[in-house]
Amino acid sequence: MAEQPKRKPPSSSVVGEILGTASTKRKRPEPTAIVIFGATGDLAGRKLAPAIYNLQVDGALTEPTLIIGVSRTPMPAADFADKIKPKVAEFSRQKVDPAQWDKFASTIDYVGGEFGDDALYEQLKIQLEVAKKKGTKGNRVFYLSTPPSAFALILEKLEKHKLIEKQVQGPGVTACRIIVEKPFGRDLASARALNEMISKYVDESQIYRIDHYLGKETVQNILVLRFGNSIFEPLWNRNHVSHVEITAAESIGIEGRGNFYEQTGVVRDIIQNHLLQVMALVTMEVPASFSADDIRDEKSQLLRSIRNMSLNDVANSCVRGQYRGYREEQGVAPDSQTPTYAAMRFMIDSWRWQGVPFFLRAGKKLAERLTEVNIHFKAVPLVLFKEEAAGGVLQPAVLSLRIQPHEGISLRFVAKVPGENINVGNVVMNMTYADAFNRPIAEAYERLLLDCMRGDATLFNRRDSVDRAWELIQPVLQVWEATPGVHFYEDGTQGPSATDEMMGREGYSWRDLVPQH
Ligand code: BG6
Repeated sequence: MAEQPKRKPPSSSVVGEILGTASTKRKRPEPTAIVIFGATGDLAGRKLAPAIYNLQVDGALTEPTLIIGVSRTPMPAADFADKIKPKVAEFSRQKVDPAQWDKFASTIDYVGGEFGDDALYEQLKIQLEVAKKKGTKGNRVFYLSTPPSAFALILEKLEKHKLIEKQVQGPGVTACRIIVEKPFGRDLASARALNEMISKYVDESQIYRIDHYLGKETVQNILVLRFGNSIFEPLWNRNHVSHVEITAAESIGIEGRGNFYEQTGVVRDIIQNHLLQVMALVTMEVPASFSADDIRDEKSQLLRSIRNMSLNDVANSCVRGQYRGYREEQGVAPDSQTPTYAAMRFMIDSWRWQGVPFFLRAGKKLAERLTEVNIHFKAVPLVLFKEEAAGGVLQPAVLSLRIQPHEGISLRFVAKVPGENINVGNVVMNMTYADAFNRPIAEAYERLLLDCMRGDATLFNRRDSVDRAWELIQPVLQVWEATPGVHFYEDGTQGPSATDEMMGREGYSWRDLVPQH
């Protein structure tokens, strides 16, 4: 018989065609002046300037979109542009093209001076007037990329010089918005005080509290996967799910940010914000619509139903670690107890999730860079497969939402190994964004800056969620700050072994941090 020609696998673009795409058209941003306080800092160079550059190259902005950098060191705007050019070249996801760069550089202005100096704000006022004449219509966004200790002073001065005013944002209203970087406060009391302070100057609708995880495509896809497919939702509850792991592992260390990290630690840096937000998206109920407040209402409701930890829970269900060598980093105390790794278990007291443990872990200098959510389904009744289960071959199914890198979704399940006997093996079905959609994934900051200019706060944190997230981790911070006890771990490992013991006591184990492809 003639050999059948092999079927060519469809290329990524064909997959796109076959599946078809639907999109909800979103409104274009208004022309805006983006004022960045802390413009010569790390975040502005690594994330903000490259994000705005990419938005410009992609034609996503409405002209004129202008940048006004504000920082302590006085310098001409051209020098500031030259200063950030190498950063954009290094961190931009698209190559820096000379013509695009010249266009971008022509949108950059700069004001230098102390944040407490009135002259700085008078100068800023003049530049905002210039921007308005160029066509920004008075729309402005102030990005506070400074230490939180500077926020009050900056807002007070902005108000004094009539650069901000309290006004509910909405269609037809000139945009006046404040973007606040995390960490938003350092505990419940300071976060509340910060919210109180900001709300003296602006309305809640003007405040954009950033958590860049919410801008990641893969994080946004959690809701589409859950609510755009009818096959997952019926299984998404305590009847079918045994437990859930949420991991944010990094292979890098603190990258020279010793002073910041000593004040922060992994719980404030990652768990209070990024991981609790991901957990809320994985577990929240169906929102009435995709509007900002409907989604944020459901997230807030979910966070309220997470059980508060007791001191016993902190002792039994939370583990802290520190990588060896952390204490030798610049700016770190030689006897530092700051955790660079933490694992903790949360329970949700709701009809859907009662009894299902959620294990969250995050850490630096681990074996792999990997952020993912693993939904572990319950084991089958072992009537037919007792032996395979005893030998560890029969593993319950796991749905993995891989947030980064190799963004995608995979399902591990059991299949028959071909042959005359009934042998079972675990197989993995894998979807990656790179294969399924032939297009680059935008950086989180691109999406978030664009949304802020559009006046869409869906992907930003509301005051109630921030408060509740602090409330949830408060017992952990309290106990850990009162009693020393970090477990040390080596660079490039799975973290402290105490974390395996913690999972083991509950009858579970962490998925190994290994390269994902
Ligand atoms: C930031 C933390 O919020 O997130 C950093 O302050 C961390 O410590 C970073 O490295 C991780 O972000 P991403 O997008 O690389 O996972």
